[in-house]
Order: sequence, then structure tokens, then C-alpha cells
Amino acid sequence: MAKKTVADIDVKGRKVLMRCDFNVPLDDDCNITSDDRIVKALPTIKKILEGSGSLILMSHLGRPQGRKDEKFSLAPVAKRLSELLGRNVVFADDCVGPQTSAKAKALKPGDCMLLENLRFRKEETIKDKAAKEDAQLRQAKDDFAKELADMADVYVDDAFGTAHRDNASMYTVPMMMEGKPRVIGFLIEKELKFLGDALRNPGRPFVAILGGAKVSDKIGVIENLVSKVDRIIIGGAMAYTFLKGRGKSIGKSLCENDFIDKGQELLKQALDANCEVVLPVDHHVVRELKPGAKHRTAVGDIDPGYQAVDIGPMAAEAYAKKITDAKTIVWNGPMGVFEIPPFDEGTKAIALAVAEATDKGATSIIGGGDSASAVNKLGLQDRVSHISTGGGASLEFLEGKVFKCLEILDEK
Ligand code: 3PG
Repeated sequence: MAKKTVADIDVKGRKVLMRCDFNVPLDDDCNITSDDRIVKALPTIKKILEGSGSLILMSHLGRPQGRKDEKFSLAPVAKRLSELLGRNVVFADDCVGPQTSAKAKALKPGDCMLLENLRFRKEETIKDKAAKEDAQLRQAKDDFAKELADMADVYVDDAFGTAHRDNASMYTVPMMMEGKPRVIGFLIEKELKFLGDALRNPGRPFVAILGGAKVSDKIGVIENLVSKVDRIIIGGAMAYTFLKGRGKSIGKSLCENDFIDKGQELLKQALDANCEVVLPVDHHVVRELKPGAKHRTAVGDIDPGYQAVDIGPMAAEAYAKKITDAKTIVWNGPMGVFEIPPFDEGTKAIALAVAEATDKGATSIIGGGDSASAVNKLGLQDRVSHISTGGGASLEFLEGKVFKCLEILDEK
């Protein structure tokens, strides 16, 4: 059933506590290098402010391990948000505590406040499993969540990128707010629509493109997708665990030896499900991976002493052909060591093929992280259907995992 959104409730005169994912990239001087996650939360934020709600925003940034650490402060986000909204955003320099709740109380309709990084408090990331086994941890997590929950009359979750985490603000806080409206924001609504529709009702051919270093990170996704997609295109270092299992020489390419058998099992599952799996036939290889390294193309086997760093030109062309007729595409993970040009060529070729298929009517969904930055770097962001704000979250969604933080929110 569909979840209620902020459009389904009246926030006038109410204090609204909204969980965002403002985990934005920062440079060494704490300047925001991409404000994408802030910009994408704006529709929900504006809806609440225009509806005369008093908005309390909360988020994590990085992994500060439960300690205050200025380099993970959300202060730059408050500043950027003020600029984007064209109005002052109050910044509370602790996410809980008497001063913060006093500030929350003082908010007028249409005011907006951002709380300091939730993960400056260790209670935020206490795992539910640990809390179940240890009464003290349970109490600490509950007390922290209650302090946040007590500040508001309404809970809004728009943090898709964090939806796979059991952080206190994602699950314990809305649990504490039972009986009050608990809804999703427009960003989560959009993410669930694109990813959900793709899995439930895909146009065909449905093509999954999976890259990245490790097969072990993608086992669940492949297992869930083999029965749903028509083709899985594999690139990145994970391809070499499959190829080694098929008896190919892979030189000193990255390989997860412990997962070779699992890889072959996945290929068999795909065969049984009539799902085509495409692996690279050629590779860009180097003796040593470093910027400016001399590289050459290896077809088939890779000589000892060489390491694959990208799919080769034949593979890139073959992959583009396998994408061109797709009607639904999900893509997660680069095809090579994309951060060191020219080993980004394979990833670029895929990005272009996905954009061209989208131009012809395909629905394309790009998982967060490297594939999203490849699309953005090439200026192709307007030629794909949806770039997810969640890297890990979109992967877990594709694995078919249920996000319990969303389960408890109000249904339409
Ligand atoms: C992300 O960037 O994937 C989310 O913000 C989650 O961050 P986390 O992996 O530190 O929980």
C-alpha cells in the first residue's frame, strides 16, 4: 500500500520533525562539493514551510563515531539551505538537550531549524540488535529518540539514502511518535516509485548493469534480479571473480577468491532463470595502477603481472548494444577505476548508452555513488530518468530488502 506523504496532512501550526539525508560530500575546508541531496529535499521542505508548519530538520553527516567533530558539522548545510530557501535557517549546535528543545519550542509557523549532526551522539547508531540484547543500550537509544520525538507533532521521513539503516532517528523516533502523523516526503515517494515500479512492472527488455569492486557486495542484488531482469551486464573488478571461476586467466586483477564458487552458482541461477549474463571479452590492463600508468588492451585472458582496470573497447561496444533496446535499466557501479582517467572510458560508454536508450523511451535508474557521478560528470543527468540519492539504500532495495523504518509510517 502507498504511504501517506506530506501532501496528505495539514501541518499548519504544527512542529514537524523531518529526517533528511544531508550526508553531502565536503572538501578539506568543509565546503560542500555537491548540494544535490539538499536540493532534492527542497520540495518537501518548501511544502511544510508554505503550509505554515514549523520545521525541525535532522540528519547525519559522515561517520563521526558518536563524538562532536567539527569536520562533520552540519553548519555548512544550514548555510547552504538558507541560501537555497532565501530565508534564515536556525542552526542548533546540538541535536538534543534543553537549549535545542527551547529553540524548537520558539519556532513560529514557517520557521526552519536544522539540528547538528545526529551522529555526534553515540545513541543514534546503536544497532537495534545490540539494543535488544542489552537493556542499557536499549534505554540509551530510547531516551535519545524520545528527546527528539518530544520536540514535534509530526514526523516526516525524506532520508532515502539512510532508509536501510536502523539509526534512532530513522526508526526509534517514529516508533516513539505513534499516534501522531508519520509520513514520507516527496523525495522518498519519488525514489520508491522509480525503484518500486522497475521491480514490479518493468518495461522489457529489463537490463541491470552492475559494476564495482566486489561480487560479495552484489550477491543479494544478483540473486533477487535474476528472476526479474532479462540481462545482467557485469563490469568493474567484480567481473574477474566470475571470469576466474570460468577458467580464464585474470593476471593480478582483483578477485574475491572466497566468492568464486558463489559467482558460478549465481551464473547457474541466471541460466536457469533465462537471464542473460554478459561479462567483458576484453580489458584495459596495467602493470601498476597509478595515474598516467601505461596501459594496453587484453582480449580474453590477461597475462600474469597485469591487472584489469576497465572494460576494453570491444566489451564497451557489446555492452552498449545490449543496452540500446532496453525499456528498463538499473545501473549500479562503475565499469573500471573510473576515478583515474583514462580508465573511466568503459563507465562513460555505459553512461552514454544509458542516456541514448532513455532518449528512445527507456526508464533508467542510476544507483547513487560512482555511477551517479559518472552521469553527472558527463552532463547526462537530464538524459536519464532517475538518479537515486541512495547508494547503499538503492542496492538494498534492489536486493528486495524491506525497509522497516518505512513500514511503520502511515498508509494512505
Ligand atoms: C549514504 O551516503 O549512503 C547514506 O547517507 C548513509 O550513510 P552511512 O553509510 O554512513 O550510514
